[in-house]
Amino acid sequence: MALLEVEDIHTFYGNIEALKGVSLTVEEGECVTLIGANGAGKSTTLRSISGLTPPRAGSIRFRGEEIGTTPPQEIVRLGVAQSPEGRHVFQRMSVRENLELGAYLRRDGRVEADMQQVFDLFPRLAERQGQKAGTMSGGEQQMLAIGRALMAEPRLLLLDEPSMGIAPVLVERIYETIAEINRQGTTILLVEQNANFALEVSSRGYVLETGTVALSDRSATLRENPDVQRAYLGT
Ligand SMILES: Nc1ncnc2c1ncn2[C@@H]1O[C@H](COP(=O)(O)OP(=O)(O)OP(=O)(O)O)[C@@H](O)[C@H]1O
Ligand SMILES: [Mg+2]
Repeated sequence: MALLEVEDIHTFYGNIEALKGVSLTVEEGECVTLIGANGAGKSTTLRSISGLTPPRAGSIRFRGEEIGTTPPQEIVRLGVAQSPEGRHVFQRMSVRENLELGAYLRRDGRVEADMQQVFDLFPRLAERQGQKAGTMSGGEQQMLAIGRALMAEPRLLLLDEPSMGIAPVLVERIYETIAEINRQGTTILLVEQNANFALEVSSRGYVLETGTVALSDRSATLRENPDVQRAYLGT
């Protein structure tokens, strides 16, 4: 049994069918990527899994349990945390307060230790603990959004375009950090438009085209695929 099993989901915005039967799996410990053009349905897939935009049909199982109609809060409690597209940190709260909010469902005593771990991954956040999140740079807010998701101590971390709006020199750093988070045992489902880094850090990938899975394979194989190179790797 895979950690996450998405089977033939159909997700709508009003009458618009954004996902027309998407299926994918993520095994425990894996880092899997979803790539695709604007509007392909990448964010919608993550939003379906996290319960923000539940599918109208199909099945989503997390650790064998059906979560397709489970409320988002409960899904977080089960161990799925999402770092949303466009960052969405709480602008008026400090860096530390944002991180604490990420842990609000936890009742264990390891929150401080995990905060230290986030600071180890993102030293910039440690330096700026008291700064209002809204005054952090775009890249710093992205780090904070990822750090906040990690504070939920997820079994499955959903990352929606972690490199968006980040300077090229920092993108590499973000991806090193994502690889490190995965190495430390967190399973990751990663969405990216810029596929270069995503296919490097992941072991498998799915290519989404207008709401369906057009292709899925080992990331190394996808990188060698001429169609993928032309459409998503800019080569
Ligand atoms: N709130 C919404 N209301 C109506 N349609 C929406 C909404 N959000 C997304 N869509 C539509 O659903 C489709 C899939 O959008 P989605 O955001 O999942 O794409 P994406 O692959 O994440 O694209 P991008 O790379 O631009 O972020 C698009 O056609 C989009 O216009
Ligand atoms: Mg998106």
